[in-house]
Amino acid sequence: MSETLTITDNRTGQSYEVPITDNTINAVDLRQISVPDQPGLSTYDPGLVNTSACRSAVTYIDGDAGILEYRGYPIEQLAEQCTYLEVAYLLIHGDLPNPEQLAAWEASITQRRFVHENVKALTEKTRHDAHPMATMMASVAGLHTFYPAGRRYDDPASRDLQVRRLIAKMPTIAAYSYRHSLGLPYVYPLDTLSYTENFLAMLFKMGEPRYKADPRLVRALEVLFILHADHEQNCSTTAVRTVASAGNDPYTSISAGIGALFGPLHGGANEAVLRMLDRIGDQSNIGSFIDGVKAGNEKLMGFGHRVYKNYDPRARIIKDACHDVFEVTGVNPKLEIAQELEAIALEDEYFKERKLYPNVDFYSGLIYEALGLPPEMFTVMFAIPRTSGWLSQWLEQVVDSEQKIARPKQIYTGKRGRSL
Ligand code: CMC
Repeated sequence: MSETLTITDNRTGQSYEVPITDNTINAVDLRQISVPDQPGLSTYDPGLVNTSACRSAVTYIDGDAGILEYRGYPIEQLAEQCTYLEVAYLLIHGDLPNPEQLAAWEASITQRRFVHENVKALTEKTRHDAHPMATMMASVAGLHTFYPAGRRYDDPASRDLQVRRLIAKMPTIAAYSYRHSLGLPYVYPLDTLSYTENFLAMLFKMGEPRYKADPRLVRALEVLFILHADHEQNCSTTAVRTVASAGNDPYTSISAGIGALFGPLHGGANEAVLRMLDRIGDQSNIGSFIDGVKAGNEKLMGFGHRVYKNYDPRARIIKDACHDVFEVTGVNPKLEIAQELEAIALEDEYFKERKLYPNVDFYSGLIYEALGLPPEMFTVMFAIPRTSGWLSQWLEQVVDSEQKIARPKQIYTGKRGRSL
């Protein structure tokens, strides 16, 4: 079988043969197809829905089959058997750590949890009611001013250091952003606690000498962090790669990823789900709400995905985790509304035809709310673990000789040839 594509340009009757590699054609091969006074042919792909912009060995998704793997391991096994820091190591290094590697990795992350006092001052200077995601984005971008050597991304040792710093400091920055939004004093990291236990302590510790989180909540948070760690070339990862393609350090690039994740169609969806469930208020209102969605008045937030045309495997794991969390915190009546909403939508032709299923954000907000977090914090909770995914993609990109500065084309629709 010939691995080529023959294209006939009906404008000229001319045929062209272009190679097919990895089931793709190289967009640049289309340039040879041209008519007089026009540039060569290109593709029009808003949202890059059918364009591969890189090669990546980090995350595999089969959206039709509902499969998600990090470095070849199914998400279900990782969520059940690993800690978030093990998974972060896997994403960054390509393999799971052995016990010695894990101990060294955990120790080197733990020792970098503190942030410079002036990073804290950056947080303090934002408005008293600033959205914690906006504060986090500013603080991460500000890290560049403390670590300008992050620009030496061609040095493997420098890259490794920035990666550890960012993974270590994200929970601290997130917790500071949260405490700031409530006017509470910030809590410094404590080395004797695990990554997630320490994060919960930095969020919630008040006057007690030692904050002790329920182990079931700690485990639920580990699972959520694992599920959110990477998701291949999504909007925020594309933002990170685009900014990095100009030769930027990871602080600058990841602050762009945080900005993309902030959007309600991306990481902000779990915040929107909670607000939607609040608005629905009671199971008796679900029917009219669904009618409104079908009439195009609004979207059923937490449903649908660009890639999954099946049940998002992460949503299934989170739904199970909800029950463990509610065992500790008591059942949230919104879970019943969410479950009923899901059951109705899955049987409805509108959603079936369009292959709309619950995504990762449908149930995650319920857990965050049960942990005591307000909706503004939900996207922040997504950004902390996604940092390891962004960094894995950044590490891959900086050594990929095929990568170029991102610079898409446009179809010009404006006026020409004007003069004053
Ligand atoms: N509720 C109702 N209708 C929907 C929804 C929804 N949540 N999602 C898609 N549709 C409809 C859409 O209106 C369109 O209908 P029609 O063919 O009649 O015009 C059809 O389904 C196809 O949708 P699309 O907008 O072309 O799909 P997309 O791949 O461009 O968008 C999406 C994917 C996630 C942006 C979209 O499904 C959506 O807005 N969902 C709600 C927001 C959400 O939950 N986002 C979280 C995504 S998962 C977290 C992450 O990985 O970032």
